[in-house]
Amino acid sequence: MKRVDDFRLMFGKRELVPIVVGGMGVDISRAELALEAARLGGIGHISDAMVPTVSDRRFNTHFVKEKAKLFKYNAANSDKAAIRFDLGQLAEATQNHAGRTMEAKRGDGLIFINCMEKLTMNAPRETLRVRLRAALDAGIDGITLSAGLHLGSFALMEDHPRFRDAKLGIIVSSLRALQLFLRKSARVGRLPDYVIVEGPLAGGHLGFGMDWAKYDLRTIVGEIQQYLQVEQLNIPLIPAGGIFTGSDAVSYLESGSAAVQVATRFTVTRECGLPDDIKQEYFKAKEDEIEVNTISPTGYPMRMLKGSPAIGAGIRPNCEAYGYLLDGSGNCAYITAYNREVAAHPDAKKISVMDKTCLCTAMRNFDCWTCGHYTYRLKDTSRLLPDGSYQLLTAEHVFRDYQFSTEQKIALPA
Ligand SMILES: Cc1cc2nc3c(=O)[nH]c(=O)nc-3n(C[C@H](O)[C@H](O)[C@H](O)COP(=O)(O)O)c2cc1C
Repeated sequence: MKRVDDFRLMFGKRELVPIVVGGMGVDISRAELALEAARLGGIGHISDAMVPTVSDRRFNTHFVKEKAKLFKYNAANSDKAAIRFDLGQLAEATQNHAGRTMEAKRGDGLIFINCMEKLTMNAPRETLRVRLRAALDAGIDGITLSAGLHLGSFALMEDHPRFRDAKLGIIVSSLRALQLFLRKSARVGRLPDYVIVEGPLAGGHLGFGMDWAKYDLRTIVGEIQQYLQVEQLNIPLIPAGGIFTGSDAVSYLESGSAAVQVATRFTVTRECGLPDDIKQEYFKAKEDEIEVNTISPTGYPMRMLKGSPAIGAGIRPNCEAYGYLLDGSGNCAYITAYNREVAAHPDAKKISVMDKTCLCTAMRNFDCWTCGHYTYRLKDTSRLLPDGSYQLLTAEHVFRDYQFSTEQKIALPA
C-alpha cells in the first residue's frame, strides 16, 4: 500500500515531498505555516493579499495608517476613485513579507507566494506588476498566480532577471482557463513550472459559478492531463480541493499528478494565522453550517461558515485604509450595495447589507470564515478536551499525517 512519501515532486533536479500547503489570505497561511511546510521538505505558501496590513502586523510598519490618513478627507464620500496605492510602499511591504520569510527558511522545501489577480487595487496592472516583481526581488522561490486568468501576468515579469529561475505556476479550475493561459504564456516563451487544478470543494474563492456542485476535481484533472499529453507538454499537475487524507492524495499521485495542494486541514494548526477562538469554530462546524454564497464583491462564489460575522454586516466601506477590491475605475460591488441600503434606510443607525460584504475589512478582522467543504471533518482530526475545546494541532503533525498515513486513516495528536 503506497503512501505520499513514496512519491516525489521533481523540479529539475530538486526533489520535494509532494505536499503543497495552499495560500490562504489574509495571512491565514502565515509565514510560520509556510516555513514548516518548507522545513519538512514540501512547499508552503504565504499570500500577498493586503500585504501592507501583513507588514504592519509583522514588522510594525505603518502603511495602512498612513494611507488612511492621506485619504481621510474622502471617508464620507461614496466615490472612491481618488484612492490610490503608493507603489513604493506596496513594493516595500511585499519585500518585507516575502524577504523576511525567505531569510527564515530552513530545510529543503520551497516557499511560494500566492498572488490573486482579483486584488485590482484601483490600478490592476500597475499594482500587480509591483507585487510580482517585489516578490521576485525578495528572493521568493516561486509565485502561484490565482483568482483570475492572469493572461498578462507573465509579461509583467518578463524582463525581471529572475523570470526564468523562479518557479511560476497558476491555479485553474478548467481546461479552458489553462488553454487561454498557455496561449498567452507561449508569447513570452515560457511555460508555467506547475499547474494547480483547483476543484469545487476548495476554500476561499471558487473558480466556478453557483453550479459548482456539478463539477468534480478528478474529472477536471483527467481532462487537463489528457490535453497536456496530446500537446506533449510536461507540466506538473497539482490537484487541490477536498484532498483530506494521505490516501486521497495517493490516489491522485498514482494516477499521474505530481503533488497535491491542501489547506483546510492546516486551518486548525498552531502556525495558522487565524485567531485560536476562530480555529475552534472551524473544528466545531457541522456540514450544514458551511455554505457557498455570492457575498464576495469579486464576483466569485466563496465558501464560508454560515456563522461568519461578515455575512449581513453593514459597515461603512473602508477603502481609504484598504481598497484592495477597487476595480480600475474605483468601484467595488460592496460600495454599490452599501450605498443602496443607506439610501433605502436614511434614518437607520445601523444597516445590514446581505448581498455583498466589505471583504477587505472582513478578512482583515478575521470576520469572514472562509473554509473548505470538508471543514466539518476537522473534528475527526483532533481530540476533544475536557473544557469542550479541541486540541490545536501542529503543522508538522498534519503534514506528516498526509505524508505517511494509509487506508484513509487520520492520526490523532499525542
Ligand atoms: C481559509 C482558506 C483561505 C484560502 N484563501 C485562498 C487565497 O487567498 N488564495 C487562493 O488562491 N486560495 C485560497 N484558498 C484555497 C487553498 O489555497 C487551497 O487550494 C484549497 O483550499 C485546497 O483544498 P482543501 O482546503 O480542501 O485542502 C483558501 C483556502 C482556505 C481553507
